[in-house]
Amino acid sequence: MQRVLLPLLWALFSTATWADGETTYNQVCAVCHAQGLAGAPKAGEPKAWSKLIKEGQINLTADGYAGVRAMPAKGGKPELSVPEFAEAVVHMANLAGANWKTPDEASLKKIEQRIAKRAQAKK
Ligand code: HEC
Repeated sequence: MQRVLLPLLWALFSTATWADGETTYNQVCAVCHAQGLAGAPKAGEPKAWSKLIKEGQINLTADGYAGVRAMPAKGGKPELSVPEFAEAVVHMANLAGANWKTPDEASLKKIEQRIAKRAQAKK
């Protein structure tokens, strides 16, 4: 019974949630970040990431989502939500040795506030 039920529950659960960080990373971010294209901090390279990790999860996630220099806003995928983008940042930061977790409600709010501020500054 359990053998049938568990995969079924898993299938239901996983389609009900958004793409996890690794999936988003592979589908959207790896194009640039796997090789360090155009000056992108290369995934899994602590040297490229240690300074960024020190900026903190909220700032780094918000700045990346809003776009920084050659880094396109939302990784160039307009339909990417803040939580999805945040998961991909967690994945990349952790590949480089951080121990970040999925941002909770309060952190997501702070991320969204910073994104809004950045969008205003650009106008
Ligand atoms: C078209 C290439 C490209 C894609 C696709 C891309 N990035 Fe980047 N990313 C860059 C480049 C280039 C930089 C370095 C920007 C700079 O500092 O000049 C960067 C920098 C970053 C930074 C550091 C921002 C900061 O504050 O310095 C984060 C975080 C980031 N990317 C996350 C992501 C995530 C998450 C995705 C996928 C959802 C993604 N990127 C997709 C090119 C890309």
